[in-house]
Amino acid sequence: MKIAIYPGSFDPITNGHLDLIRRALNIFEKLVVAIADNPEKEYLFTTREREKMVKESLQGIEKVEVLIFSGLLADLAKQKNAVAIIRGLRAVSDFEFEFQMALMNRNLVPDTETLFLVPSERFTYLSSSLIKDIARFDGKIDEFVPKIVGKALKKKFDFI
Ligand code: PNS
Repeated sequence: MKIAIYPGSFDPITNGHLDLIRRALNIFEKLVVAIADNPEKEYLFTTREREKMVKESLQGIEKVEVLIFSGLLADLAKQKNAVAIIRGLRAVSDFEFEFQMALMNRNLVPDTETLFLVPSERFTYLSSSLIKDIARFDGKIDEFVPKIVGKALKKKFDFI
C-alpha cells in the first residue's frame, strides 16, 4: 500500500489544506495527516483543538489517518513506511524553506520522497497566518476555512 504523510501545523486547517489532501488522495492509497506538536512554537489552537478541527473537516473522507506527532518527521515517515511526504507550494517564497526541509529529510530518510503539490489557484494566497490575522479583527473568512474552523476562530477571538 502506498502511504504518504502530509505534515503541518494546521493552526488552523484551511480549505487550501483540504484541497491538497484531496489531490494527494488521488495519488496515494492512504494519507497520514500529521499535526506537529512543537513545544518551541506558539500556536493559536492547542494540539487537541487542531486535531479536532482536522478530524471534523475530514469526516466522511476515507483513507485518511489523523495523528499528532512531536518528534522528527523523518522518524514518523519511517515508522509509517511512507513513500512520500506531501508539502504544498503556493508561491516562490515558500520554496527556500521547503527545499531545505526536503533535502534534510532525504538525508534522514532516503527512501521517502518529498512531493510538492500546488493547490487550486484560488488558494495560492491563502495561509493559516493570514486567516488568523483577519479573524482577529472579525474579518470575513468563510470562503477560506471549513465552517467549524470559522466558528472556532470567532470563539477564540471572543466574537461569539
Ligand atoms: O505547517 P508548517 O508549520 O509549515 O509545518 C512545518 C512542519 C511541521 C512540517 C515542520 O516543522 C516539521 O517537519 N517539524 C517536525 C520536526 C522535524 O522533523 N524537523 C526537521 C525538518 S527537516
